Amino acid sequence: MEPKPQDGRRSAPHREVPPVVGLLLALVVMNALLYLCLDRFFVAPRRPAPDPRRCPYGHFRVGQMDSCSAWLSCAELRTEVRPLKRVGEGAVKRVFLSEWKGRKVALSRLTSPEMRDDFLHGLQMLKALQSKHVVTLLGFCEEDGTILTEYHPLGSLGSLEATLNLSKYQAVNTWQRRLQLAMDYVGILHFLHHSPLGTRVMCDSSDLPKTLSQYLLTSNLSIVANDLDALPPVNRSAGALAKCGRRELRGDFVAPEQRWPFGEDVPFRDDLMPPYDEKADIWKIPDVASFLLGHVEGSDVVRFHLFDIHKACKSRPPAERPTAQAVLDAYQRVLSSLRDAAPSQAREML
Ligand SMILES: Nc1ncnc2c1ncn2[C@@H]1O[C@H](COP(=O)(O)OP(=O)(O)OP(=O)(O)O)[C@@H](O)[C@H]1O
Ligand SMILES: *[C@@H]1O[C@H](CO)[C@@H](O)[C@H](O)[C@H]1NC(C)=O
Ligand SMILES: *[C@@H]1O[C@H](CO)[C@@H](O)[C@H](O)[C@H]1NC(C)=O
Ligand SMILES: *[C@@H]1O[C@H](CO)[C@@H](O)[C@H](O)[C@H]1NC(C)=O
Repeated sequence: MEPKPQDGRRSAPHREVPPVVGLLLALVVMNALLYLCLDRFFVAPRRPAPDPRRCPYGHFRVGQMDSCSAWLSCAELRTEVRPLKRVGEGAVKRVFLSEWKGRKVALSRLTSPEMRDDFLHGLQMLKALQSKHVVTLLGFCEEDGTILTEYHPLGSLGSLEATLNLSKYQAVNTWQRRLQLAMDYVGILHFLHHSPLGTRVMCDSSDLPKTLSQYLLTSNLSIVANDLDALPPVNRSAGALAKCGRRELRGDFVAPEQRWPFGEDVPFRDDLMPPYDEKADIWKIPDVASFLLGHVEGSDVVRFHLFDIHKACKSRPPAERPTAQAVLDAYQRVLSSLRDAAPSQAREML
């Protein structure tokens, strides 16, 4: 039996008690420290503090800028930005690597007046959704049909393989880094599904190359959404669903509910096509993630561990598919368990 503290004090010259108390105190302190550390490392990332580098609405900071600047106006865009070379083109925008105050920036120009509505929708989304998940807006001029954004020299996700193949990036062409990319991608979907503008569906995604071209690879190898021209809202409490465009979608890449349900004999009519919700984005996750995982050592082990969650993403009834958050949690578990296992153990886990 342990002596009671009072007994210890009464029988004065007892030397066993202080070490025991000291040990207990040390244990308490260690527990508290451990708790604080666990809290810092495992709880904090879920609710990140606002990034001190982020600027207030209507302002930006890129590269080594040490203070925030207001979005460039039409006048500033016209006089201070110099287009250098064309780096991309889609249906809506023509994109030029450009120079502004000695910095590389991306100037997008509306390709034709018929695309004006898409262009303006994209601009409105870009303004409202500025965050670490979305390319940084530097300025715009509705009148001229121009948008200025941060330039990302690695370009769109479509060229990921070619980029990671460069000797410069070979050291980071690992399953860890590539699983992290898949987590970035699903993180962006989660953000769009819970955005300041409510639930948004990433519609410019009728096939894999199209989907990849909507995202940019940053120089530190993370992903940002770039093209937000087609983000219709879904509002479940109001019963409002969305449709991606007015034309018929085909193929296995799009979700089943995005395809014409009335068979080959009935010609497609947009007004008869039923709308759907953001779970259409979830259906596409396995294909995009598999592309992002690629074919490096360990990719297949990761794919194997993602089998169940990816199978759930491909559930035919949209309601049975997981949320982006649930997919993210599953990815995080796989990343943690494989990262903590020694390389030999990781191989055995297959
Ligand atoms: N900030 C940027 N930095 C580097 N490259 C970019 C940047 N913005 C766009 N690009 C390149 O230009 C391409 C076209 O840009 P974007 O997707 O915005 O055009 P779009 O006309 O809206 O395309 P879509 O036909 O999909 O609507 C991108 O896929 C990418 O390769
Ligand atoms: C990657 O590099 C290898 C050899 O260097 C080459 O065979 C392969 O085609 C390249 N792949 C891509 C996507 O560029
Ligand atoms: C969704 O609809 C409800 C009910 O009509 C409305 O109160 C709410 O503001 C809507 N949410 C968004 C983000 O528009
Ligand atoms: C890349 O940079 C962005 C901001 O510049 C940051 O949010 C992100 O965490 C960085 N990613 C990595 C892998 O360092």
